[in-house]
Amino acid sequence: MKYIFLLFLLLSSLESELDKKWVSNKNCEACHQDISKHWETSRHSNSHFSKNDLYKKSLEYMVLKNPKLILDEVKIKCAKCHNPRISKTSIKNNEKILLVLGIDSTKKEFKNILDNEQMKNGINCAVCHNIDEIHLDKEIGSQGLEGVKFGVQGTMFGPFDNTKSPYHKTQYKAHFADNSPTLCFTCHYSHNNEQGIAVYSTGKEYDSIQSDEGCKSCHMSKKKKGVASNYSKDGEKPKVRMVRDHRFSSVDNSTILQDNIDIKSYKEERNFIIELSNNSPHSIPTGYGLREIIITVQFYNESKKKINQKRLEILGVLWHDKKGKATLPFMATSKAKDTRLAPKSTQQYTFTLPKGAKSATYILSYRFINKKMAKIIGVTDSFFLKEYKIKEESLDF
Ligand code: HEC
Ligand code: HEC
Ligand code: HEC
Ligand code: HEC
Ligand code: HEC
Repeated sequence: MKYIFLLFLLLSSLESELDKKWVSNKNCEACHQDISKHWETSRHSNSHFSKNDLYKKSLEYMVLKNPKLILDEVKIKCAKCHNPRISKTSIKNNEKILLVLGIDSTKKEFKNILDNEQMKNGINCAVCHNIDEIHLDKEIGSQGLEGVKFGVQGTMFGPFDNTKSPYHKTQYKAHFADNSPTLCFTCHYSHNNEQGIAVYSTGKEYDSIQSDEGCKSCHMSKKKKGVASNYSKDGEKPKVRMVRDHRFSSVDNSTILQDNIDIKSYKEERNFIIELSNNSPHSIPTGYGLREIIITVQFYNESKKKINQKRLEILGVLWHDKKGKATLPFMATSKAKDTRLAPKSTQQYTFTLPKGAKSATYILSYRFINKKMAKIIGVTDSFFLKEYKIKEESLDF
């Protein structure tokens, strides 16, 4: 009897886990080389805490500031979007007690669940391409794995209805072929923190202007001639198809911001004006709540000497806790300030010319996390600390 029970436990825990064949993009690379290489440059491949200093430090800071929280419990909650192939979706009260008591076998069990290879691979090929059905309730927001039904393992859903692969089954699904944001909204529509404050709202921003652009044309690529697989059977040539890059572009791995924001700068009477037009269907910055765009202006006099201190304008959100102190989006009880560029909008930033100003240099840059919050939570990875320069220009008046 005991053994039957053990066998049952073993089988039921294996069932929700991915077979080794589908766990890593390395299993796909031989035949889908470019796709795999591109995906590796994206944040989708770094969404596990072991590969992402900002995410890891955020989890630790939340627990440090709220002793009622248990680290592994928070990790399980966040995993529903960050690592949706997790085999456990909730935690029982008795498990919490064992974790708090620091029982070794329980700690080990949770480490196996949270830190295994399929989890480390993040938003992997087998996350998206195994999604059979998507159910999004826009009132509730994105639910990650709770808003999807995964298909049979080994069937790759995709945009084509006439493919054959020697490695896996294939099946057409509209949510890959059409231009709609349905698949992306599984995780990117919106999400409220426990205090009811919206911490992500890219999809809501998109709906607010009733766009029909989708996400793929900018964040993957426009459709172009290419191959779905570079593997060809019996020396046949791979079929030429209309495909897209798997870059999931962001500021660090593309010129997406340069390409989708118009910048004008000019002098008008006693003012220097910078005008930004957001051509994207969501706010800029969007997504994770501590992203920032920084405009720095330096004025010079006739002999090219600096006048005054640099002047700054920051586009981003300031999150406050109930004491009115700056905090992480997930811990916030209010949004104290939101100075982001609204979707498809134009905004002017006016800087009064100091006396004797004959020229100005401005720099537009991007940060993945607000400098002060990075310091507070102890982020050390330079990927998150550096400022990504988007544009620098000098003007003589
Ligand atoms: C975030 C979701 C997501 C992830 C992760 C992802 N894909 Fe895709 N994939 C898509 C979408 C969306 C399309 C359809 C693109 C289009 O409109 O043609 C697609 C299309 C494809 C195609 C068909 C060719 C093409 O470009 O249309 C192949 C093959 C493919 N993906 C393989 C992979 C492999 C291999 C990985 C992992 C290295 C991967 N995908 C990761 C979303 C994803
Ligand atoms: C041995 C080679 C091989 C391996 C390994 C392989 N594939 Fe494929 N895959 C193919 C071929 C061939 C096609 C069809 C190409 C065509 O018809 O243009 C394909 C098609 C696809 C499609 C498009 C399906 C459609 O109908 O739209 C997806 C998605 C896909 N593969 C995902 C994956 C993923 C994810 C992995 C890794 C877990 C993987 N493949 C591993 C050869 C392979
Ligand atoms: C299963 C959930 C999920 C799905 C589906 C998903 N994403 Fe993501 N996406 C995430 C998470 C989580 C991150 C953040 C990862 C990190 O940095 O830790 C992310 C990050 C991103 C980023 C920032 C990328 C970067 O390289 O900096 C972009 C852009 C993005 N996703 C676009 C898309 C698009 C477009 C789609 C639809 C084709 C999509 N995502 C589908 C969960 C998802
Ligand atoms: C016209 C081009 C365009 C379209 C269409 C578009 N985006 Fe973006 N997206 C951008 C630009 C430019 C940025 C970089 C600035 C920023 O972070 O807001 C960006 C940034 C993002 C980020 C943050 C990336 C990061 O590193 O933090 C996410 C997430 C994102 N977009 C998701 C989406 C989703 C989901 C859709 C579809 C509903 C979409 N985008 C449609 C241009 C576009
Ligand atoms: C509803 C889905 C969802 C849930 C649940 C979720 N996230 Fe995210 N998270 C995202 C998406 C989508 C992005 C990407 C946004 C972007 O790139 O700007 C992201 C990005 C992040 C980032 C930025 C990572 C980077 O590489 O820059 C951090 C940090 C983060 N999330 C922390 C958390 C924490 C902590 C939790 C749990 C308390 C959590 N998230 C739960 C969807 C989710």
